[in-house]
Amino acid sequence: MADLFKNYIDGTWQAATPGTTFASRNPASFQDVIGHFPASGPADVDDAAAAAQDAFPAWSSTPAPERGRILKRVGDLLLERKNDLADAMTREMGKPLSETRGDVQEAIDTAYYAASETRRLFGHTVPSELPDKFNMTIRRPVGVCGLITAWNFPIAVPTWKIFPALAAGNTIVFKPSEESPHCGALLVEVLEDAGVPAGVINLVQGDGTVGGAVVEHPSVDAVSFTGSTEVGKKIGATCGRLNKPLSLEMGGKNPMIVMADADLDLALEGVLWGAYGTTGQRCTATSRLIVHEDVHDELVGRIQDAAEGLTLGDGREEGVDVGPLINESALKKVQSYMQIGQDEGATLVFGGTTPDNPDLQDGYFFEPTLFTGVTPNMRLAQEEIFGPVLSVLTVSSYEEAVTVANNTDYGLSSSIYTENVRHAFQAMHDLEAGITYVNGPTIGAEAHMPFGGVKDTGNGHRDGGWEVFDFYTETKTVYVDYSGQLQKAQMDNAPDA
Ligand code: UN1
Repeated sequence: MADLFKNYIDGTWQAATPGTTFASRNPASFQDVIGHFPASGPADVDDAAAAAQDAFPAWSSTPAPERGRILKRVGDLLLERKNDLADAMTREMGKPLSETRGDVQEAIDTAYYAASETRRLFGHTVPSELPDKFNMTIRRPVGVCGLITAWNFPIAVPTWKIFPALAAGNTIVFKPSEESPHCGALLVEVLEDAGVPAGVINLVQGDGTVGGAVVEHPSVDAVSFTGSTEVGKKIGATCGRLNKPLSLEMGGKNPMIVMADADLDLALEGVLWGAYGTTGQRCTATSRLIVHEDVHDELVGRIQDAAEGLTLGDGREEGVDVGPLINESALKKVQSYMQIGQDEGATLVFGGTTPDNPDLQDGYFFEPTLFTGVTPNMRLAQEEIFGPVLSVLTVSSYEEAVTVANNTDYGLSSSIYTENVRHAFQAMHDLEAGITYVNGPTIGAEAHMPFGGVKDTGNGHRDGGWEVFDFYTETKTVYVDYSGQLQKAQMDNAPDA
């Protein structure tokens, strides 16, 4: 039986060895404590890694389609529990129910997609340069994967890593964010109930020190992390020292370009959703609006009118568009940018404060906010705020728009609104980002498409899509010589000089 307030190690829900716990609270209402979760110590990470290592031989040699059958059941159970999971997610991290249902749906799609890939997991067969010799590649699992994830997509994003890792035959130590331990436990319960064998998935709860112990652990063969660029770079340094494969998904400062020929109704809807959906707490959030000077005033005016119609509140209530920020330090960080922006000379057009609605004083709410007059090198245009704050920059040509869009250390998502097919196609090549949307906002990735970024957002790997299997498998090259003789490549068959 699942005891969701414990760790899950080797098929058993168990308390952490230090015996201390931390609370998870509802960000829309501080008094609402969801539960106390184990603050794990190094011994728990040892146990989880040992369980994963012991489970590896049997799981990796289980036929991949059989692993796929279990993943299919995982998808079915997620579907059955979709509304309950969404409700628990909104309570724990705040985004409205419509969005948390989307989060669970993303996990369902990822489960069915990973299950179907277990019947492919292709290698190549390739002609040999020598006679009677057969060349091929096969995929082997990597081993024990340490997976460390963020709280903003507390079910979807872990599944982007867990499901392909399992499909490929790996075993797992999973450390969810300390802001969403309940969601992490509910997800692991689904895996347990679907019949994932003991030791194949292990859950250790706790903060960054636990994540650090997972990364360092000698039995953990590969690491995948979604979170801030600051933490990701530290993990990168450790994995470099230990020679461990690492996949990083980190910050973003995602631009939406709106050209003068854009359909402004469409751009308006897109910018509201991209900037203020999930309270701006997505690594893909639209945080820079780069707008052509000819349509600047009209678009900003329309955003202001429409933003007034957005309802802030507890995401479990009907009609709420924007939930709270995740915690007090997130609120303080967002607040600090109000001063920073004004000191830099930007104009605060709307928002900029916590709401005065007396019903919203028990949560970390912040009004949707917009600054105009932002210039490319201001901190408002450079730093990831992770809140409902949109910075508007003005440009006078497509070329300038691209230069401004690329003037950032990040490179996750990007978008252009235009009716000009030439600019649309040019932008696909010109924007320095892992993802480009044409006539859509910067958010809304699909499970079977690769997800990831360039520059300081990533390190060359992708979650999602077929590409994720390149991370969770090692390519083994196999040569079979059936000539019955020693054949020397590059020598026996060398052309005459
Ligand atoms: C994230 O914020 O880490 O495309 C992931 C999107 C979502 C995933 C965001 N499906 O915005």
